Amino acid sequence: MMFGTERSRQYLNREQTNRMPRRQLTIRISQLLILLFSTATLPAGAGEGKAGVEATVVKGGKLEAKYPSDRTYPDLEITQFAYGSCNKPRKVSQDFWDVMLNKKPQLMLLLGDQHYVNSNEVAAHKEAFRQLEQIQGYTRTRNTVPTFAIWDNHDYAEGYLGKHHPNAAAVEAVFFEENRIPLGDARRSRDGVYGAWIFGKHPKRVQVIMLDSHRHRDALPRGGGVSKDPEKTILGKDQWKWLGEQLAQEAEVRIVASSNQVLSDQHRWQRWGVFPHERQRLFDMLTEASGTSVILSGDRHRGEIARLERADSKPICEITASGWAQMYDDHEPNRLRIKGPTAKNHYGWMKINWDRHEINLQLLSTEDSSVILDHVEKIVR
Ligand SMILES: [Fe+2]
Repeated sequence: MMFGTERSRQYLNREQTNRMPRRQLTIRISQLLILLFSTATLPAGAGEGKAGVEATVVKGGKLEAKYPSDRTYPDLEITQFAYGSCNKPRKVSQDFWDVMLNKKPQLMLLLGDQHYVNSNEVAAHKEAFRQLEQIQGYTRTRNTVPTFAIWDNHDYAEGYLGKHHPNAAAVEAVFFEENRIPLGDARRSRDGVYGAWIFGKHPKRVQVIMLDSHRHRDALPRGGGVSKDPEKTILGKDQWKWLGEQLAQEAEVRIVASSNQVLSDQHRWQRWGVFPHERQRLFDMLTEASGTSVILSGDRHRGEIARLERADSKPICEITASGWAQMYDDHEPNRLRIKGPTAKNHYGWMKINWDRHEINLQLLSTEDSSVILDHVEKIVR
């Protein structure tokens, strides 16, 4: 069955809109509003928790994501959401979108490599999104679940260009447009795709922070090495300032999403440990912030859970969900790993039990949502 919002997407396809006579367009928009009103809200309380909120609205004849960044949404109490990364839309089955949807996530966090364009050219990025748009599970997800996306290297550029991307502003504009990010969204006013949201009320607030680890990143050291030059950056000055402002806001649980791994230190690809001073700055900020922080990452085409114990401050837990497509089974080392690695295709799932003060981090199978990895963190105030 086709969802109303999906039908309406077809009505509002840009090319169709351009071709439509004004009267016909008016009729179709009124049909669209009826469809949205009747079907965009899924039944609340279905499944294991509250799920199903309107994820899109129509403005100026176009669908827009309904949850702009840098805002608080006190009426949406979060108890479960999904996340994942590393898709190959033309090479692997896309059934996993509906597998994830069937779990009734309240949010969907896309951690990068939603497509593998591997290009600096705007036209190539547009085409990659056009292919994504043809996947019904993807459009259904985006139209019915508040979906927040960041990019990783393959859906940002050719290679690991970081801030040296020659077309960064142009591909960023495509990213905003194709992710239906409203014109007034704070993300549109800055360089980079980072954003933050606070859901729920005290003492059950969840802050979601999505970082951009590519747009401002300095060149990676040659040969997989480490740079101790304090001038070299991952987030860039403006994003660091913004992150400090976000973490100064109160929340009981903070979800910090980075396309690249933060704790892992033993592979030669992009990771926060390549610029150790930047990683330490992140650790210090999370230590300073109230509540319990959990890091989500992607990129590695394997799944794992790692944990950094610290004698004098809160532990830092990271779950890497990188497994919609093309898994690697080469047992990459990670001295802080506590669960995994897994080479089974998976997505990330998080449940928050507010009564028991627990966060349950899981990797679930993209075939049937069976549990692959499972870990519980206590919520400490
Ligand atoms: Fe990837």
